Amino acid sequence: MKALTFKRYGKSPEIGFAEVSLPVLKPNELLVEVHAAGINPIDNMIPTGIFKPVLKFQLPAILGSDLAGVVTQVGSGVTRFKAGDEIYASLFDLGTGSIAECAVVPESAAALKPANLDFVQAASIPMVGLTSWQALKERGDLQTGQKVFIPAGSGGIGSFAIQLAKHLGAKVATNTSTPNVQNVSSLGADEVIDYKKQAFETVLRNYDLVLGTLRGDVIEKSVDVLKPGGRIVSLVGPLDKAFARARGLNAFLGFVFGLMSRKIIRLAKSKGVAYSFLFVRPDGAQLGEIGKLLESGHVRPVIDKVFTFEQAKQALEYLATGRAKGKVVVKIR
Ligand SMILES: NC(=O)c1ccc[n+]([C@@H]2O[C@H](COP(=O)([O-])OP(=O)(O)OC[C@H]3O[C@@H](n4cnc5c(N)ncnc54)[C@H](OP(=O)(O)O)[C@@H]3O)[C@@H](O)[C@H]2O)c1
Repeated sequence: MKALTFKRYGKSPEIGFAEVSLPVLKPNELLVEVHAAGINPIDNMIPTGIFKPVLKFQLPAILGSDLAGVVTQVGSGVTRFKAGDEIYASLFDLGTGSIAECAVVPESAAALKPANLDFVQAASIPMVGLTSWQALKERGDLQTGQKVFIPAGSGGIGSFAIQLAKHLGAKVATNTSTPNVQNVSSLGADEVIDYKKQAFETVLRNYDLVLGTLRGDVIEKSVDVLKPGGRIVSLVGPLDKAFARARGLNAFLGFVFGLMSRKIIRLAKSKGVAYSFLFVRPDGAQLGEIGKLLESGHVRPVIDKVFTFEQAKQALEYLATGRAKGKVVVKIR
């Protein structure tokens, strides 16, 4: 089958199409005919090698992690799906990819595609839906009436997380550039800061939670936005010791991640707030819950651009500009 692969880590990863043989299905796996694959910033980072110590791939490896498609075959132990089912899933952290004609999906990572979404819309959801759910609900424990700051409201994460936080009953602040202010407001954000005109750290105070979606000094500046007892859940790092421990990484990596996060953890402690790094995990049961929110209209997909399979490399290049407004999807069929 045809798939978008990278051959090596580093500056010249040789991203391109290759013929890849289909793996033999394990008892708990589904073979899925991919109709659409959602793209995420990490798909551009993986070939650089920056996540090599953490994410394991056998090279050449297929790029992409989000998908929506039709089950064509099920392993002998599969109980919840059958051939013909329309599903969506995240393959993140599973050593395989989704920008391909077919994908192997563990039963535990899949959920039925929300009935009101087409394949492109469904493929836009898994990474941003699961990350928002795990950051806001699980790690952030966001409660009705609490205040959350979600920077970069126009991005893939921001556009989903704002809607989820509103559904959870929170008051939501975000920031974006002038042309995106209207679109972000329409997602339900209570306060939209135009970062071309105002710095968020001069406006926001007494927040319960900040979702770390932007690199640079944004995480450190977020400390002043929080009230004592508040939390930063960062998606962009710095990685921390707890992350190394949770993944069973070696002591050296634990030491390195500890050094990387020492400054922000000290700063957070000094202000009485907590910092942690979150790495999303695939979870079909959670995707099922997210599917209910999509079906009931509490959350909607926000799609910027759709590329053809042949244009998959351009889709990655477009996302790498950092200016996507919502999600970028590759339509495979
Ligand atoms: N740890 C994890 O498990 C995990 C999971 C998912 C994502 N992530 C990470 O989370 C980050 C966000 O992901 P994403 O999918 O949302 O990225 P994205 O869709 O590529 O974000 C693009 C958006 O960022 C906005 N933006 C850029 N600079 C900004 C600034 N200074 N202030 C406010 N907005 C700004 C842009 O809006 P403007 O054009 O208006 O500037 C654009 O709409 C990425 O670094 C990604 O790798 C981590």
